[in-house]
Amino acid sequence: ASNSLLTGRKVLISAGPTREKIDPVRFFTNHSSGKMGFALAEAAADFGAEVTLVAGPVKLELSNKQIHRIDVVTAAEMYDVMHKHFPNNDIVIKAAAVADYRPKLVHDEKMKKGQGNWQIEMERTQDILQSLGEKKTLQFLVGFAAETTNPLEYGIGKLAKKNLDAVVINNVSAEGAGFDGDTNIVTYVNKSLHPEEIELASKRVVAERLLKFIERDIK
Ligand code: PMT
Repeated sequence: ASNSLLTGRKVLISAGPTREKIDPVRFFTNHSSGKMGFALAEAAADFGAEVTLVAGPVKLELSNKQIHRIDVVTAAEMYDVMHKHFPNNDIVIKAAAVADYRPKLVHDEKMKKGQGNWQIEMERTQDILQSLGEKKTLQFLVGFAAETTNPLEYGIGKLAKKNLDAVVINNVSAEGAGFDGDTNIVTYVNKSLHPEEIELASKRVVAERLLKFIERDIK
């Protein structure tokens, strides 16, 4: 792999959902399977990069044993691991679907059901991507943006707000795109703000195209 695209580059990728506990048997999460982030990790490793993959709770295995995988459960754990590895990486891609809120109170015992409704107070988690953007020095930082309305507008908003070098906009309401399936449709936007579309393709092919854009932009 000596003349591959990303030879010698250190790439840090996050994938999957996070899981936020309510009590020992219940939690909040989302539909992320981890497939997009795992495809990025495998493709980057095949392009010669040294890959660290931070994965939320997913049912996936890596075929490339060279990839350094770190499993986490909560947004807070993902925050700690991403910040620990951030200074040591050249390219950071956040494909994970991190919980924006978690229950303010985590019960030690299983909650009993009562007669009436149950209100659960939620508090904000830390925005990992934004905090990495604030800390960024030489890293090329790529965020994802999962949107259902005005994807381009909101996605470009996140690029600026979170101090990113590029954003991958995922219109998750399009057929064949987004959570859980084996395919995706995305738009890559770097600081030139010129959107580049990647049409419907397997997550592996989408990952390879994204890495080629990133490789071009870090030069
Ligand atoms: O895992 P799959 O089933 O293959 O699905 C892929 C995917 C749809 C999850 C993926 O392509 C995707 O769009 N990931 C981003 C999902 C998301 O949470 O988007 P967002 O717009 O809510 O967040 C924007 C960015 O901020 C993301 O890079 C996210 O990782 C990051 N974030 C969000 C909240 C938070 N507390 N910390 C963060 O770092």
